[in-house]
Parts: sequence; structure tokens; C-alpha cells
Amino acid sequence: MGAQADEPVVAVRVWDVPTRLFHGGIALLVTANLVTGKFDSVLGASTLEWHKRCGYAILALVAFRLVWGFAGGTHARFASFLRGPGEVVAYARSLASRSHPVSVGHNPMGGWSVVAMIAALGVQAATGLFLVQEDYGFAGPFSRFVSGAMSDRLNAVHKANFWVIASLVVLHLSAVAFHTVRWREDLVGAMLSGTKRLPERFAGAASRGGGVLAMVVAAGAALAVLAGLLALG
Ligand code: HEM
Ligand code: HEM
Repeated sequence: MGAQADEPVVAVRVWDVPTRLFHGGIALLVTANLVTGKFDSVLGASTLEWHKRCGYAILALVAFRLVWGFAGGTHARFASFLRGPGEVVAYARSLASRSHPVSVGHNPMGGWSVVAMIAALGVQAATGLFLVQEDYGFAGPFSRFVSGAMSDRLNAVHKANFWVIASLVVLHLSAVAFHTVRWREDLVGAMLSGTKRLPERFAGAASRGGGVLAMVVAAGAALAVLAGLLALG
């Protein structure tokens, strides 16, 4: 699917508002937690409380995105961007060629990186709930349900998974930069405005669905997670 240089382009609404809000929130909160997790000893004793709150918000956003992946607008749905290995390999090969591979939503490689990021963030926030940091008198809300040895093991997972998340974020930013420089695609502008400039033949591919009912259900899932965690402490 290559774009021809002389083909007219049109503005197509690709990313719905909830997907864009999810992205903005997750980018801010993950950055906050990578910093507060790594530099808690420098930032002070209350840092871990903020780290915990941001972690709860990340878990709520992950719950939101899981529901939105089934009930959201066309290009937010997992079914629309998760492709088989054949398509992923073909897309990877096309990156080295001169033809311009057009994707309306996430491309076949990007789709799997979205899932990898969401899964890694879910694991990070979930393991965090079991951790104890005695120096600051900090105990995660689920730490009372596990032994000290198990909490230590989950702490090791939390620490190791930091590198997974950091690598995925670096890969994510590099991929966005690659598309911007190599293909002159304004992916960042599209994530901010919701609209992508695409060849005219994609005019009918605008996002559909993800109406008020879907938003209420997805927001309800996020609030239920948040309320449950806050009730536990
Ligand atoms: C996706 C959300 C989260 C991210 C990205 C994250 C990230 C991190 C990072 C990067 C560290 C430093 C690891 C190291 O020293 O190598 C850390 C430590 C820690 N995190 Fe998280 N975390 C998250 C969620 C949580 C949650 C929800 C809790 C608790 C409810 C939590 C509790 C802790 C504790 C207790 C430490 C140890 C701090 C220390 O040893 O001084 N984290 N986290
Ligand atoms: C810690 C930081 C970040 C994380 C964890 C993150 C995570 C994500 C996730 C999960 C998605 C998928 C959105 C969805 O379908 O729901 C996404 C998409 C996207 N992100 Fe980020 N992001 C981060 C920072 C950034 C930054 C700083 C930029 C801009 C420079 C950016 C640009 C984009 C773009 C353009 C897309 C859409 C990619 C496409 O067209 O397929 N992200 N990001």
C-alpha cells in the first residue's frame, strides 16, 4: 500500500478523544513514576506516596484502555491493529524500502508495541501493590496478603521490569521519530489533534463507534479499579 506523490491528501479523523486523553495521561504518569521510583531517595520521604497514587492512576488507565480496545472507536480497537506475523514481517521489510507504507491507525509493528507497553505497565503497577519500603515506612496495599519473601521477589520483578518499560518507551519514541523524519508523517500532530492527513482513497476510513455508552462503561471500569485500590489504602 504505497502513497503516490501526486495523490491528493485529505484530513481523516483517526484517534478518538478518549484514546488521546489516555495517551496524554499515560505518558505523563509513566514519566512521573519512572522518576519517582528511581529517585525516591533524592526526592524525599513523601515521594513513594505520589509514586503509589500515580501507579493507581496508571492501573485505572490500563483498565480503561482494555475496555476501550473492544468498545472504542475503530482504530482504538485491538482487532483493528493486531495483525498476524506475516503482516508484521512484511511491514518490517517495507521500512527499508523506498515505498511509503500507509497505516490509517497503528501500523502492524506499532500495534504489538502498544500491547507490550500496556502489558508491561500492568505488570509494573500490579507488582508495586505488594511492595514494602521499610526505610520510608511504606507498605503497598496488597503487601499484607503475601510473605516478606514473596514481596521481595515481586520487588525484583518491579525492578527488572523497569528496564522493559524504559526500553519500550525508547523504542516507541524512536519509531515515532523515524516515521516523522523518514516518511514525513505527522504522527505526533495526529495523536494531539485526532486527525491524520492521508491519501484521498482513505477518506472513508475515519473512526466510528466508541459512543457515550462505551465511554461510560470504560470510565466505569477505570473508576471501579481506582475506588477499589483507594479503599485498600
Ligand atoms: C506503572 C506504574 C509504576 C512504575 C512505572 C513504577 C516504576 C518504578 C521504578 C522505576 C522503581 C525503581 C526501581 C529500581 O530501584 O530499580 C520503582 C520502585 C518502587 N515502586 Fe514502583 N512503579 C509503578 C507502580 C508502583 C505502585 C502502584 C507501587 C505501590 C503501590 C509502587 C511501589 C514501589 C516501591 C515501594 C518501590 C521501591 C522504592 C525503593 O526501593 O526505594 N510502584 N517503581
Ligand atoms: C512514557 C511515555 C509514553 C508512553 C508510555 C507512551 C505510550 C503510548 C501508547 C500506549 C500508545 C498507544 C495509544 C493507544 O492506542 O491507546 C502510544 C501512541 C503514540 N504515542 Fe506515545 N507514549 C509515550 C510518550 C510519547 C511521546 C513523548 C510522544 C510524542 C513525541 C508520543 C507519541 C505517540 C504517537 C504519535 C502515538 C501514535 C502512534 C501511531 O500512530 O501508531 N508518545 N503511546
